[in-house]
Amino acid sequence: MAQEGSKKLWGGRFAAETDALAEEFNNSLSFDRRLWREDLAGSRAHAEMLARQGIISQDEAAQIQAGLEQIEQEIESGAFPWRDEYEDVHMNIEARLTELIGPVGGKLHTARSRNDQVATDLRLWLRGALARIVEDQQRLARVLVAEAERHLEPPLILPGYTHLQRAQPVLLAHWFMAYYEMLGRDLTRTLDAMFRLDESPLGAAALAGTSFPIDRFYTAEKLGFAEPMRNSLDAVASRDFVLEALSAIAIGQITLSRLAEELVLYSSFEFGFVTLPDAFATGSSIMPQKKNPDIPELIRAKAGRAIGDLVTLLTASKGLPLAYNKDLQEDKEPLFDAVDTYQASLRLLAAMLPGLEWHPEVMRRAAAGGFALATDLADYLTRRGMPFRQAHAVVGRIVRKLQEESRELDSLSLEELRAFSELFDADALELLSVEGSVASRDVYGGTAPNQVREQIEEAKKELREERP
Ligand code: ARG
Repeated sequence: MAQEGSKKLWGGRFAAETDALAEEFNNSLSFDRRLWREDLAGSRAHAEMLARQGIISQDEAAQIQAGLEQIEQEIESGAFPWRDEYEDVHMNIEARLTELIGPVGGKLHTARSRNDQVATDLRLWLRGALARIVEDQQRLARVLVAEAERHLEPPLILPGYTHLQRAQPVLLAHWFMAYYEMLGRDLTRTLDAMFRLDESPLGAAALAGTSFPIDRFYTAEKLGFAEPMRNSLDAVASRDFVLEALSAIAIGQITLSRLAEELVLYSSFEFGFVTLPDAFATGSSIMPQKKNPDIPELIRAKAGRAIGDLVTLLTASKGLPLAYNKDLQEDKEPLFDAVDTYQASLRLLAAMLPGLEWHPEVMRRAAAGGFALATDLADYLTRRGMPFRQAHAVVGRIVRKLQEESRELDSLSLEELRAFSELFDADALELLSVEGSVASRDVYGGTAPNQVREQIEEAKKELREERP
């Protein structure tokens, strides 16, 4: 019956031809094919349970399992006949099963609906995808820590910025470890999303459960879920598990976009702190001198995609009545897109960061210039008893004078300093070095080398414990 044209596999009241455009619009096969492994896994568990419960015979179950096995091989080898007239991955597999084993194939869908089927498939798929994302996040975390450690001794120093104005010198290792912290929180958000999706919708059927004596605990366990979902309406209607994953990914991609943006800036001629590895940059087709940071730029831009993916599904979910609505079919493309985007970005950064060529002298000069050590002078006066606000004003006057004379702080002599305050002594001049400045930030979480070393040791311990 369902072989030609636009006839529906499941017959029923609307078995007549549908409008071709409507059919194309309705079709999800081009993207939900990606769920085929999970669809087969769900069907295997379901068929096994049906036989255990005496709903189908053992022999029927065995035929179904053999058919599913063959379908798996066909899909893997590329021989599977994907057909658009069967709307989605679920219908394609079911139709093929009946072709292969005859009408008994139709028994697989007993006590099940595509509504609980697709919700189950998607949870299974997302569980795997998030596990792979966690691995990629861990890999990038290891790279960040390794890079931090590599640049700790001798310490590479660059300016730290606020408002993108040179503020105070920091260790490059400290900068890397800041991204390690951010990525670590992104990782725990991924784990949180995995934790809450760990329940099985299978057996909720269309929306109300089923009149067959199924065992939902059995299928839940078979599929590796902690438990079956408690409410059948919720089970088929809810996609907050996708929203959580999408928001974890959007936040994660934002972290990566910030790192990418700094690489774009720091590799510009104006900063000149770093050169990107050739494999991750391109030349200009017209300007021979240019090396464009395409990969960081794309990672930066893809935060827009990830946010868009989240907003797409948030918007599609808003105000949906219970239970299943076809709107929910729109969950897959943004999810697949966000997962692919984030994974590629994580992998690219992990591959690219070790190849960065930092330019210590340029960084150091920038860190020393622009009066980045002014706070250190003010702190000095404060330690000698001057109220900080007053010290701030004194150093402000020093900076203004130097600016007028186009000079930097380290050109000051002791006599000049003492003209501003009698509290200055020879040791004040020692402060005017970037090394002295970072070393003095010797507080928990600060940029002093021994503090950063401790952060790195702690991170290495965390990563060892996380290693699977
Ligand atoms: N392709 C559909 C989806 O992704 C499967 C569920 C269809 N259910 C239905 N009642 N039409 O949501």
